[in-house]
Amino acid sequence: MKFFIDTANLDDIAEAQALGVLDGVTTNPSLMAKEGITGAENILKHYVDICNIVEGDVSAEVIATDFEGMVKEGEALSALHPQIVVKLPLIADGIKACKFFSDKGIKTNVTLVFSAGQALLAAKAGATYMSPFIGRLDDVSTDGLGLISEIRQIYDNYGFETQILAASVRHTMHIIDCAKIGADVMTGPLSAIKGLLKHPLTDIGLAQFLADFNKGN
Ligand code: E4P
Repeated sequence: MKFFIDTANLDDIAEAQALGVLDGVTTNPSLMAKEGITGAENILKHYVDICNIVEGDVSAEVIATDFEGMVKEGEALSALHPQIVVKLPLIADGIKACKFFSDKGIKTNVTLVFSAGQALLAAKAGATYMSPFIGRLDDVSTDGLGLISEIRQIYDNYGFETQILAASVRHTMHIIDCAKIGADVMTGPLSAIKGLLKHPLTDIGLAQFLADFNKGN
């Protein structure tokens, strides 16, 4: 299972990279705005800054909602750095743009997926990654993890190579459950990744080992 971090915060990205378990980064316009990164020029520079920290795929989202606009923006994003993955919304023009980029061998991440039917379309269009938002589904009393299971079954039935990128991950149990189901990738905040480290018996055991070692010294 690949671990992506879902942020535009360079410190968090550097911390996750230093941990040695990071496979990539996902961003979106809201995450950029949260870091105070605004204006096309600053946003493009920030993508390059992210690529220079992490080894792996970095999703950069288009703002255009029409096919021509998405192609123009996606080509510019893709030209920024070899690690850039063009992130496209799951709307009709986004699916057309996904097919366009897939045919050209440019990596894509189809985002804002909330149903199995949408996931099927993304795979048919040759998406590299397809991002179902499990936390946002949970927020509206709908089973986000259930959607991951449904998509896993559909993709396995037909051998689709599109990777299931479980997004809108909120906590450590989301990561563990996605791993059990067989999501290819998860993207979540640094807190969820670091949460996987925690167990009180680890802390108690380590304290005991150190205390016992020090008895003889
Ligand atoms: C995915 O690529 C999105 O950036 C993200 O996971 C959305 O998560 P949120 O629901 O926490 O905003």
